[in-house]
Amino acid sequence: MKIAVLPGDGIGKEIVAEALKVLRALGLRLEMEEAPVGGTAYEACGEPLPRATLDLAKAADAVLFGAVGDPRYDAIPRDKRPEQAILGLRKELGLFANLRPAVVYAELAGASSLRPEVVAGLDILILRELTGDIYFGQPRGIRKLESGKFAGEREGFDTMRYSESEVRRIAHVAFAAAGKRGRKLCSVDKANVLDTSQLWREVVTQVAREYPDIELSHMYVDNAAMQLVRNPKQFDVIVTGNMFGDILSDEASMLTGSIGMLPSASMDERGKGLYEPIHGSAPDIAGKGVANPLATILSAAMMLRYSLEQPAAADRIEAAVKKVLAQGLRTPDIFQAGTKKVGTREMGDAVLAAL
Ligand code: IPM
Ligand code: MG
Repeated sequence: MKIAVLPGDGIGKEIVAEALKVLRALGLRLEMEEAPVGGTAYEACGEPLPRATLDLAKAADAVLFGAVGDPRYDAIPRDKRPEQAILGLRKELGLFANLRPAVVYAELAGASSLRPEVVAGLDILILRELTGDIYFGQPRGIRKLESGKFAGEREGFDTMRYSESEVRRIAHVAFAAAGKRGRKLCSVDKANVLDTSQLWREVVTQVAREYPDIELSHMYVDNAAMQLVRNPKQFDVIVTGNMFGDILSDEASMLTGSIGMLPSASMDERGKGLYEPIHGSAPDIAGKGVANPLATILSAAMMLRYSLEQPAAADRIEAAVKKVLAQGLRTPDIFQAGTKKVGTREMGDAVLAAL
């Protein structure tokens, strides 16, 4: 089994190193090949997603990804910015289904900014569509207005769009996922304002007829943002578009205590996937050895479960993570009085020992 390893920028290298340590300790036959991506690749060869990196990702059975992004590149043209690497990988590999589970570990209920009773036992899955929407819609750009009230000014514009088949395929993934969990699916949109959302809602409702045992509800995105902090346990699976999913999954991560805890899987139609923590490159703490490697280690577990057919190995990693949390080890992002503060490497070593 071949894994393309793309650590990327900022804390990416540090956290991926810990996940690799854990993967190597499993005694599986895994071939791992590393390639530059994001700002690191731009520095090395002038492109955030070099051809060789993309080819490696395409040829591999799965991709383990760290993070991309660096404020040093904020001013360069958009197509050269680090973020284009992850957007390009998602598009080129057809990774349309993004699974972002938000699970509250019992030991971390007190680390959430919400009261423990609101989040204790939380286990929700956000299913984010990943290759459509305003992220990729054309036309987009910044143009000079020639006439009208704002003549002479520049205007920025993007296009939100979803085709029926794009909505249909993510809806099927969502209903299937709900079928394996609590049988409740909430589709989040902005159908009271946006035509794209109106079509989204119609298509999801049509697909629902094929899944009579799943309870479907619809919610506007503003309400969903509010309900996630009011009573997150009302949700089982949430399915939504690319941009709403980006925002809601960051919000949901804080229910769990830290964005440093959340893994994700991005899948194509045949189950090939890219696995990454949902957090970014965190340039403010890069190189300091304090980043939480658990989201990446848990992403490696998802990779073993969903792409490499190694569920037992995935279980072992998840159990090891629970164990180090039970031992009271905490990186600074999840630290609370009475626990032991550790760095990135110590946390990785602890997971390794717990294996
Ligand atoms: C994410 C990130 C990316 C996104 C960025 C880095 C382009 O925020 O994976 O959630 O917006 O999708
Ligand atoms: Mg995001």
